[in-house]
Amino acid sequence: MTELSRSVRGLTVLVTGAASGMGRATAEVFAAEGANVAVTDYDGEGAEAVAAGIVAQGGRAKAWKLDVGDKAEIDAVVADVARHFGGLDAVVNNAGISGFTQIDNEGYDELWERMIRVCLTAHQRIIRAALPHLRKSKSPRIVNIASTEALGATALDSAYSAAKAGVTGLTRALAVELGKEGITVNCVCPGPILTGMTRGIPDEQRDIYAKRRTALRRYGLPEEVAHITLSLCMPAASYITGVTIPVDGGLMARNA
Ligand code: NAI
Repeated sequence: MTELSRSVRGLTVLVTGAASGMGRATAEVFAAEGANVAVTDYDGEGAEAVAAGIVAQGGRAKAWKLDVGDKAEIDAVVADVARHFGGLDAVVNNAGISGFTQIDNEGYDELWERMIRVCLTAHQRIIRAALPHLRKSKSPRIVNIASTEALGATALDSAYSAAKAGVTGLTRALAVELGKEGITVNCVCPGPILTGMTRGIPDEQRDIYAKRRTALRRYGLPEEVAHITLSLCMPAASYITGVTIPVDGGLMARNA
């Protein structure tokens, strides 16, 4: 047996959309395991609050305001994170937005443009900004958060579904391209998770949906997704790349 480490202690991870939901849980789980965490979000104050909470618990974190739709901001923040922590080992592309509309509704083009920019283009931009730093890491990791909407689809959700399916393609292509450098690139597809994104759905509706669609008959918790992301970033996870992992309570497995 070699001694592959199951610890992310001392490694630096940048998480986007970390002020809420799964991004927040991811930041907190990594910090609890001893990683240095760059807590980034469009909502700068929310990111500050999450980082302050981590520091109050004895963890290492710093907040950055980062709109992933803005390339200049991405380049500046990624460089500053690497400077601050003395490197960058993992990137978790988590920030995302939702938006439902019919394909022929007015405003579709605007929704499409925003969705692709925030949920897909941002991923490649952050990866490109992070690459020079990841190349210096002993355990370089990229985790992209997509959705079960990348694997199946819901009516009126075509822009989101297209962006998320794009993330799975980007993941595979970059896993193949960067594999020779030892950089792993994987994708997590959450199913229905209790976060800011789904908070607006009435409890009763959420319950009916979960019972009808998931094998586990319930919504998932943000930390149930964060732990898979953490596992993919462990140095020991060095032979898994290019995969798309549903974390969906069995939603994709269930026919009836
Ligand atoms: P959330 O709404 O709780 O958190 C999303 C975070 O992203 C927020 O803090 C928000 O400020 C931030 N954000 C939005 N636009 C941004 C931008 N342009 N730049 C930087 N940050 C931005 O949502 P949740 O559910 O935690 O979402 C995380 C990821 O999981 C998203 O990519 C979402 O599409 C995905 N997802 C969520 C599911 C769910 O059931 N909640 C299911 C499948 C995927």
